[in-house]
Amino acid sequence: MRALTVGMARVWMAEQWGTPDTWTFVEREVPRPGRGEATIRVRAAGVNPADYKHVAGPRPRVELPVPIGYEVAGELVALGPDTEIASGGGAPGDPVVAFRIRGGYATEVTVPASDVFAKPAVLSDEEAANLLLAGSTAAQMLDVTNVGPGDTVLVHGASGAVGVSILQQAAEIGAHVIGTASESSFARVRRFGGHPVAYGPGLADRVRDAARGPVAAALDTVGTAEAVDVSLELVPDRDRIVTIVAADRAKAGGFHAVAGAQPESAAFRDAVRPKLLQLAAEGRLQVPIARTYPLADAPEALRFLAEGHPGGKIALLP
Ligand SMILES: NC(=O)c1ccc[n+]([C@@H]2O[C@H](COP(=O)([O-])OP(=O)(O)OC[C@H]3O[C@@H](n4cnc5c(N)ncnc54)[C@H](OP(=O)(O)O)[C@@H]3O)[C@@H](O)[C@H]2O)c1
Repeated sequence: MRALTVGMARVWMAEQWGTPDTWTFVEREVPRPGRGEATIRVRAAGVNPADYKHVAGPRPRVELPVPIGYEVAGELVALGPDTEIASGGGAPGDPVVAFRIRGGYATEVTVPASDVFAKPAVLSDEEAANLLLAGSTAAQMLDVTNVGPGDTVLVHGASGAVGVSILQQAAEIGAHVIGTASESSFARVRRFGGHPVAYGPGLADRVRDAARGPVAAALDTVGTAEAVDVSLELVPDRDRIVTIVAADRAKAGGFHAVAGAQPESAAFRDAVRPKLLQLAAEGRLQVPIARTYPLADAPEALRFLAEGHPGGKIALLP
């Protein structure tokens, strides 16, 4: 029984399947944290395409209403009895980050303490709230394609949130990235160590020219026919191609598709969180922020993200 509450919070909910315009910003009681739980006052909620895609239509094993938002940064308000956060300890007032949670688009949220970590001091709340979903996806893409030192890797969407994290984590490994982007995003790809090439007709030739040798692996964060076709054309070993968007093409073509809902993906992404937080704490994993919006304007933030060229991450501020 969790009848006692910490207080009231506002939270964005999908009460029906549809676009963010159909979501509701409701007032709800925040449950007092039970054993193994933590309550966080949200300072910034991270914004990801999954936030709107996952409630666009019915999904297996998902029931309405769905509280929106997978990651936040904030202040620890309370811990359940005999409970520590995942990185150890934890006291009211501590700055923390939480991922993979439900209902992060909120003013306060009670979540499993095993998903709560001390916030790296070098990151702002906006940055910390956006580190782990993109970061753990990028880490898994590099892992399943076995990217190693000296590899030349093609990344579709290198200027995006997942792409920018791949660029930085590939540099840590010692791999060289050729990354597709709009010309207006080339500077961001270069800033994080990648060699930018424009997507669009002629892409395979531009990548060949830039690679001057074999392309060992292809990591697709875009999912267009062009991205998949060029990956298949340039990378002979299908075990070294991964997409996070074009799952149907992956099934037909015999290459990897990963998604957070797959149990093995979830296990990998949970396990890699401390490593990503450590890299960020050492200044080796940055999270460029494009825009912030008031939490109350979440649908507007998602409309901007869905246009496909956000130019960095978006945070919602309660
Ligand atoms: N399966 C999973 O586990 C998983 C996890 C995270 C994300 N995702 C999915 O991965 C995708 C990327 O997520 P994100 O957060 O990185 O998105 P994002 O930050 O919005 O980045 C979008 C990227 O797509 C590029 N782009 C837009 N239109 C393009 C086109 N026609 N051809 C090639 N590239 C194009 C953009 O490049 P410019 O802006 O330079 O044009 C930008 O690099 C989303 O579909 C998301 O739902 C899946």
